[in-house]
Amino acid sequence: MRKHIVAGNWKMNKTLAEGKALASEVVNMVHAEVPGDVVVILGAPFIHLPAVVQLTASASKVLVAAQNCSEHAAGAYTGEVSVAMLKSAGVQYVIIGHSERRQYFYENSEQLAKKVDLALAEGLTPIFCCGEPLEVREEKAHFDYVCRQLTESLFHLTREQITRLVIAYEPIWAIGTGKTASAAQAQEMHAKIRGHLASQYGAEAANNISLLYGGSCKPDNAKELFANPDVDGGLIGGASLKARDFIDIVNSF
Ligand code: PGA
Repeated sequence: MRKHIVAGNWKMNKTLAEGKALASEVVNMVHAEVPGDVVVILGAPFIHLPAVVQLTASASKVLVAAQNCSEHAAGAYTGEVSVAMLKSAGVQYVIIGHSERRQYFYENSEQLAKKVDLALAEGLTPIFCCGEPLEVREEKAHFDYVCRQLTESLFHLTREQITRLVIAYEPIWAIGTGKTASAAQAQEMHAKIRGHLASQYGAEAANNISLLYGGSCKPDNAKELFANPDVDGGLIGGASLKARDFIDIVNSF
């Protein structure tokens, strides 16, 4: 179902105590200041997840995401965390295919497809990330690049399955750089993504999928980005580490 969503991606930041403090602050601010119909997601490091789930239990608008999951269901994979483990901790969303995972941990489309399948099978919602590096945009190959990422990891899904996903478009050149895509660039790509989804699954299914923008989204540019017809919210890195900034983004619809 298409919804307004603002998801924080804390990445590898915050000790457990700091993460708990941030989650509590966000929950208090959501109770006090967020009137609208928006889903707020906290993407916390693995070891923070049970505590963050507990701290957010009183706020029905605030849900919790893991930043990754194993491509395997269970077994001898030292250091990995399975989707079933995430589910057992009360986690509802899982970020899959973030560009940092693709770039630094060499995750490929095939592995990401397996992660998506496992997440859906356990009833978790994948937040599937896509986005092009700068050189691809400079070659004007960015639409094909992003559409290929979706085709390769998602187009084996049924129509019912794909509508359970959230998709985040994050141009790599905008992540953590302070260089946001313009509202027009975001809308252009989001429309392209929705069109690509429609070509495979039909317009109705494509219209039911929330498409988030990510990459240096801040309180001062969120309104303009979220005002686009095909931008349903944001995946927020740096600005999700400060409750004030994050809540200002949440209230930018
Ligand atoms: P940023 O990160 O907001 O710090 O650019 C976004 C992301 O990587 O999800």
